[in-house]
Amino acid sequence: MIKTFKTIQGMWGLIVTTLVFSSAGVAAQANVTPEAMKAKYPQQYDSWLATSEQTARTDMLASYPAAVILWAGSSFAKEYNSPRGHHFAVADVTHTLRTGVTPDAGKKGLSASCWTCKTPDAPRLMNELGVEGFSAKNFTELGREIKSVVYCNDCHENGSAKLALPRPHAQDAMAKVHLPFDKQDINMQGSQVCGQCHVTYYFQPERSNKVNIPWIFGSSADLIEKYYDTRRFYEWIHPISKTPILKARHPEFEHWSRSEHAKQGVSCVSCHMPEVNDDKGNRFTDHKVSKALDHYQQVCQSCHGDQQAFMVKLESGKQQIDIKAREVEGLLVKAHYEAKAAWDAGGSWPIMNDAIMGIRHSQWRWDFAMASHGLYAHNPQEGNDLLDAALVQVKAARKSLAEILSMLEVKQVEYPDISTKESAQQAVGIALEKLTQEKQAFIKQEVDKHWPEVSQHGY
Ligand code: HEC
Ligand code: HEC
Ligand code: HEC
Ligand code: HEC
Repeated sequence: MIKTFKTIQGMWGLIVTTLVFSSAGVAAQANVTPEAMKAKYPQQYDSWLATSEQTARTDMLASYPAAVILWAGSSFAKEYNSPRGHHFAVADVTHTLRTGVTPDAGKKGLSASCWTCKTPDAPRLMNELGVEGFSAKNFTELGREIKSVVYCNDCHENGSAKLALPRPHAQDAMAKVHLPFDKQDINMQGSQVCGQCHVTYYFQPERSNKVNIPWIFGSSADLIEKYYDTRRFYEWIHPISKTPILKARHPEFEHWSRSEHAKQGVSCVSCHMPEVNDDKGNRFTDHKVSKALDHYQQVCQSCHGDQQAFMVKLESGKQQIDIKAREVEGLLVKAHYEAKAAWDAGGSWPIMNDAIMGIRHSQWRWDFAMASHGLYAHNPQEGNDLLDAALVQVKAARKSLAEILSMLEVKQVEYPDISTKESAQQAVGIALEKLTQEKQAFIKQEVDKHWPEVSQHGY
């Protein structure tokens, strides 16, 4: 922890020296240095720093190998971990196989938009380069500019305790639903600062891959799907079934916004960063944004009573969602391979269309549930509804595929071995060893030598 503090101090010292000589607008940043913020707000600062203690995470692909097949053709099938402390945001996105390595000369590679929700340097660079100027850059091209993890000025106005929303995509989204930041009450603003990042989005191809929140019609899975379908949008074509795939990303904000808790004024902040007392009895907001269940007595007890009884209920709800999700995944894997068999036997779009759209829509609902970390606690009702609908859709797709296969006289379909992450990755042709070696070489030659220290922590 102390090491992290010193490094961050050192690196900010560097930026401040350069900024004093640059433009007046950025010089205002000088009052948000860690030294200044720690001196002004010691409890908030120290608890913010403590997110570096949250090192644990799970390999989600090892836990649910079927996901490798569903995401085949995209980088999600290479590596996908559960979230951990905010202090790892920059290091984790730098090291994951998903963000790859510097592309060959002339190749476009991954958009810098991937930095948007990891660091206050993203809004800073958007101010300097313009939103599309930023997103048109390559991810690795801006690595040397990324100097801080999720920090005070990601949620507050520079140097103050006033909440703020520095990301343009979040401001745009709230304009779409007619609830701009300055019209929100303090509970909503609290959740909204989290909702800059803990929200689903896509990179808008016709706007240089800038981050866009697809809420023109609304923020439910149905209405986002309507938006994507209207635009004939897809993230990638699935290499096995040829399905134009939609990908959900952590829609925690959306699920919370429709929950009983939101109606009762219980916000992300109430559960994940509650008010606590310091040694002298002073109240402050705990900035160690962490697991909500660690605060059961402080937060949940007054409404939910005895912890043990409540945990039994919570666990059984979680299990119910898990069982459904595994069932949908299993059927989707089969559907992708049955579609492949049909294409291989001469299937054409006119007869395949309904089945392929069924796979697209079912997988979208499954993903909108699964990508939402903590769904079983945030909105189990919506989670169950999404998976129930996904189940109906994948079953209908398979029924249609069964008819097509019989018409094409296909007697047998080969399914992949999804018993482990490794076998699933092998089935879809992911050369994990090669990808890992390339990544390690990139880390050694570029990141460790030239990027600020925050991109190296956590490993
Ligand atoms: C992830 C978002 C986030 C980050 C990062 C963050 N804060 Fe906060 N901060 C909040 C929220 C939410 C509140 C509570 C606002 C409310 O309900 O009034 C808050 C409250 C505060 C307050 C008001 C007093 C209190 O304790 O409630 C201060 C002061 C403060 N933060 C300082 C900081 C400092 C200093 C940093 C950086 C070291 C920081 N914050 C980082 C979200 C954040
Ligand atoms: C600037 C973007 C950003 C903001 C703002 C933000 N987060 Fe996060 N959050 C992240 C990222 C990125 C991760 C994953 C970091 C990793 O795994 O390396 C994360 C991880 C988390 C985790 C997992 C922690 C753990 O130890 O398992 C929780 C809980 C969380 N955030 C809640 C919140 C809440 C509540 C707020 C608002 C008060 C908030 N976040 C604001 C980007 C953000
Ligand atoms: C009623 C309390 C409550 C509210 C409100 C709430 N959460 Fe959670 N959240 C939980 C619980 C419980 C979990 C399950 C794991 C844990 O944190 O203990 C969880 C899990 C998470 C996780 C995954 C953590 C991990 O390591 O897997 C993230 C991220 C998260 N919440 C973010 C948010 C955001 C963002 C909001 C607001 C939009 C929010 N939560 C609102 C209680 C809450
Ligand atoms: C201000 C009161 C309040 C607080 C604080 C609160 N809850 Fe709730 N919670 C409710 C209400 C009201 C409901 C809806 C009725 C019910 O299911 O009991 C609910 C429902 C739930 C549900 C079931 C959700 C559903 O839609 O069926 C879970 C899970 C839950 N809460 C977890 C938590 C956790 C974990 C915490 C603490 C981190 C917490 N709650 C804090 C009031 C609260």
